[in-house]
Amino acid sequence: MPQFSDSFLTEVTEKNDIVDVVSQYVALNKRSGNNLFGLCPFHNEKTPSFSVSRSKQIYHCFGCGKGGGVINFIMEIENVSFPDAVEMLAKRAGMQMPERQEDPESRKREKIFALNRDAARFYHEKLLSAEGEKCREYIEKRRINRKTATDFGLGFAPDTWDSLRKAMRDKGWSDFDLNDAGLVKKGKNGGFYDTFRNRLMFPVIDVRGNVIAFSGRLLDGEGPKYLNSPETVAFIKGRNLFALNLAKKSKRDYFILSEGNIDVASLHQAGFDSAVASLGTSLTEQQAQLLSHYKNEILIAYDSDGAGARATTKAIGIFEKLDVKVRVLRLEGDYKDPDEFLKAKGADAFQKLIDSSENRMDFKIRQIAEKYDLNRADQKAEFAAEVEALIALLPSKAERQVYSSHIAEMIGVKPDAVISDVESRRKKLVKRSETKEMRDMISRTVNVRNYENPASARAEEGIIRLLFLEPGLFRTVQLPSQDEFTDERLKKLFAVITEKLGNDETASVSSLSACLDSEEMSMLIGLSEEPETLANSEKTLEDYVSAMRKAVKKKSIGDIIKEKQEQEKGRK
Ligand code: GTP
Ligand code: MN
Repeated sequence: MPQFSDSFLTEVTEKNDIVDVVSQYVALNKRSGNNLFGLCPFHNEKTPSFSVSRSKQIYHCFGCGKGGGVINFIMEIENVSFPDAVEMLAKRAGMQMPERQEDPESRKREKIFALNRDAARFYHEKLLSAEGEKCREYIEKRRINRKTATDFGLGFAPDTWDSLRKAMRDKGWSDFDLNDAGLVKKGKNGGFYDTFRNRLMFPVIDVRGNVIAFSGRLLDGEGPKYLNSPETVAFIKGRNLFALNLAKKSKRDYFILSEGNIDVASLHQAGFDSAVASLGTSLTEQQAQLLSHYKNEILIAYDSDGAGARATTKAIGIFEKLDVKVRVLRLEGDYKDPDEFLKAKGADAFQKLIDSSENRMDFKIRQIAEKYDLNRADQKAEFAAEVEALIALLPSKAERQVYSSHIAEMIGVKPDAVISDVESRRKKLVKRSETKEMRDMISRTVNVRNYENPASARAEEGIIRLLFLEPGLFRTVQLPSQDEFTDERLKKLFAVITEKLGNDETASVSSLSACLDSEEMSMLIGLSEEPETLANSEKTLEDYVSAMRKAVKKKSIGDIIKEKQEQEKGRK
């Protein structure tokens, strides 16, 4: 059942001009005709290919193909669900939200958020109470001040079996609610007991301000150092980062990615308010993607031990794929993490580390150098070969020369020797990639969207485009059935649009947002932006339909032979 009526979606869309909304995230410049252009926020680029049309109220990136209306834009850039995006925009326009007819899952999620909020308040009050003395001492010992403790909403889970459970039950929450949120566990005797005991509590808050989970650090005694809430419908570990709710508001144009919750708290306290941590797991692709929605540079500040270096290498790989710029902070001296460094050397020294942090190339070269004994001739050669292969991948000649000279110095040879090695590797690489690029380009022009039956798909696209641009045609032209479509994605677009039109609803971007995912919407916008003559649209649509049918009729030779055999059998 749809959550919002079409008229509500239309109103939300009308009251949020796409140019105004997009401008809050992307610098748009006026350009040809009705379209404004800017740098695409969804992929890395140097020349603007992201266009926004005020008249059509859509955006479309000619580079990465993403496209949609204002609701889709908010979903993509804020990484939120459809209903959340609608709500954000409704709020922005000062509109009253209709009663939500929520699916059971999201009702459950909302319930957990509400319960977690109560629990966070309980833990925080405990921290301030007499009982919290010991935890306050611990916080003080870690030199976290009052303001930071409040900003992060830190709390204390008492060393008892049921303080939270009792307090929450008094507020009307049942054991089942508490269990769903992971705040209690079921004991052997069937009763429930508090999950978090004797711990300093860090609420984990998502970008919309919901308390989605807790991370509790043991104060003393037995048990794992950190305990996180189990995964629930409200909390998927690999998709959230600790403190992103605060860090996304930072004026710094890079995130600082560290390992520990305490590091993050210390960093924020020292003014490095763009620090986040990936909740006790190693960084996932989804987390990296989430970060890249807000800023396109990351400073990795993991622990200085071997595990930290391995995690750094892995994270660099993930960010590289997303075209996010990466720098790596190197803790000088004998400090194990940013927290220790900050406490010993202060914020200015840390800022200096940031300013002189290694780019990913420096980091990689140093990692490789550590594998070899550069006093030995044979090892020098192996080291050079490994690093040269890496340098050859750099597109800028100036950069290749800088790193080549750097390597030459490390192994004590003349720069020219390394430079010429690197350049000849580069030539080979370019030759290989040029032929590949050519192949790619040909396949792109022949078959942009990887269609199995390009001739039919072109016509299918045309049908969808015309129906989308001129919905009136739905009633005047004899349309094919869904099953005649050869491409599954196009079939889905056709089905959704014709269903809407059949019910006398509009097939506008805003109403379609509710039933198409990001990829489908982008495909629709992409094909609707292709040139089309609307002068004689009825005839054009008919032509597409017959072109589609002709194309479908072109069968493979195998099919033709099989058919012939069957016909012959029939004759006998
Ligand atoms: P301190 O060591 O007290 O400075 O805390 P820290 O936050 O720096 O922790 P540490 O460097 O030991 O670990 C980094 C992060 O890994 C923590 O913030 C936790 O998210 C996670 N972590 C550490 N120990 C555990 C554990 O025992 N269980 C789980 N689930 N996560 C842990
Ligand atoms: Mn640590």
